[in-house]
Amino acid sequence: MAKTSNKESSPTIFIIFGGTGDLSKRKIIPALYNLFLENRLPEKFAIIGTGRSKFTDSKYRISLLEAVDEFSRRGKAKREDWSKFASNISYQIANIKDASEYKEFGSRIDTLKEEWKQAASIIYYCAVSPEFFCTIAENISASKLENNPETTRIIIEKPFGRDLNSAKELNSKLLTIFNEKQIYRIDHYLGKEVVQNIMAFRFANAIMEPLWNRNHIEHVQISVTEQIGIEDRGDYFENAGILRDMIQNHLLQLLCTIAMEPPINFDADVVRDRKVEVLHAMRKIAPGKVDTMAARGQYGPGWVEGKEVPGYREEKEVDPNSNTETYAALKFYVDNWRWQGVPFYLRTGKRLFKSASLITIQFREVPHNMFHREEGNIPKQNRLVISIQPDMGIRFQLESKTPGLEMSLNTVDMVFDYSGKTRVDSPEAYETLLLDIISGDQTLFMRADQVEAAWELIMPVLDAWENNKNSNFPNYPADSWGPENAEALIAKDGYHWFSLPELNKKD
Ligand code: BG6
Repeated sequence: MAKTSNKESSPTIFIIFGGTGDLSKRKIIPALYNLFLENRLPEKFAIIGTGRSKFTDSKYRISLLEAVDEFSRRGKAKREDWSKFASNISYQIANIKDASEYKEFGSRIDTLKEEWKQAASIIYYCAVSPEFFCTIAENISASKLENNPETTRIIIEKPFGRDLNSAKELNSKLLTIFNEKQIYRIDHYLGKEVVQNIMAFRFANAIMEPLWNRNHIEHVQISVTEQIGIEDRGDYFENAGILRDMIQNHLLQLLCTIAMEPPINFDADVVRDRKVEVLHAMRKIAPGKVDTMAARGQYGPGWVEGKEVPGYREEKEVDPNSNTETYAALKFYVDNWRWQGVPFYLRTGKRLFKSASLITIQFREVPHNMFHREEGNIPKQNRLVISIQPDMGIRFQLESKTPGLEMSLNTVDMVFDYSGKTRVDSPEAYETLLLDIISGDQTLFMRADQVEAAWELIMPVLDAWENNKNSNFPNYPADSWGPENAEALIAKDGYHWFSLPELNKKD
């Protein structure tokens, strides 16, 4: 995680495949613009957007300005700043499937280098649908575009493969053209501010380590609930489902960050080694045990904030009899000394009651209650709640004496809250990730073995769900907390799903 100015870095050329797409507009360009405003981009840089539509440079820039105005965390761009930034942007029409159309990128790279009288780093960004990742890499190679192992990088968005075999195939194809140090596989959850803070919180505080194990932790919950449905991504989602879309990547990566052993330093490979060890230590769900370790759901129609919303099967480009899951809950164990016997519960879903990404660590009960039980003095278990979004913060729930004449217990929160200025100043995940790519820091990116190990873990569930249709779908209404079987999954162990506690309230 390089966090110094990149002004002195060598000139950089970004070639964005999918330069007119949603991701470019919502995330990539606003992130690059914000880095520019913070003087984090190299002094000399160029952004070449590419797509199949016809655009002049100036029309392209206007479309990006509209996007920045709409999606940047800083709101509307100041016109003067934007003009300076936009003078580095150009557009190149190209059919990404056709290698002969890549030559033009080569000429543009040469022209820029001549103009700058310097070598440049080249960053190819595959912001396109996954079926084109390989095609782009192959065409870069076939048309002999610059591919210097030290200074050329390629960014691959998720989903990385559809299953273990396709992920392996994609890895091996990419690795014939680029080496691992050039490949940046994005999992944008790793760039989120609070997620990065988990490492600081765990490894920069001496009091955490003695508590961070099976002796003190009873169970862990990782919950990413979303209020939105699948929006206009019916085609993509029908082929993915929430297991591929969220669990294989974002939720398993959060789990790794919580469960990893302390790295000896902050080098990208050292940190990633520790994470991949967690995936290897996780107990594979046996095919016959999928029903006891996992629960799935699909949303039906309902009402959200006074508006009627369709069920999943009524969404555009979705099969009216679809078996695709829009909700998943899983239980995992990490079979090592630190975590033996501690369940990790993961849940995520669309069209749920509230959007919130939370990690809750539930500590064990006190070994003996010395207070008067009959007066209701039963200490609640301590909880550490890491709130990633929309609320950003870390809170410890502790028991305390209620002020007054009696000895009566109450739960209180010790809170580190990112509200106010800290929050406004927090970079978006894509800003952090792009800055790291420019600096050549791979800590927050998925290595080939990490991606494959994550696929390996969810394959038994994917297979079981694909081969056995769920006859109860849809099984939860919009605006609910999900299907009953997910409640049952955790209830049979004596727990319940936590949502974000309101300050100073017991739940
Ligand atoms: C994406 C998924 O990776 O993450 C989406 O494809 C999901 O389905 C999104 O909505 C959630 O990201 P965030 O940053 O909004 O929590």
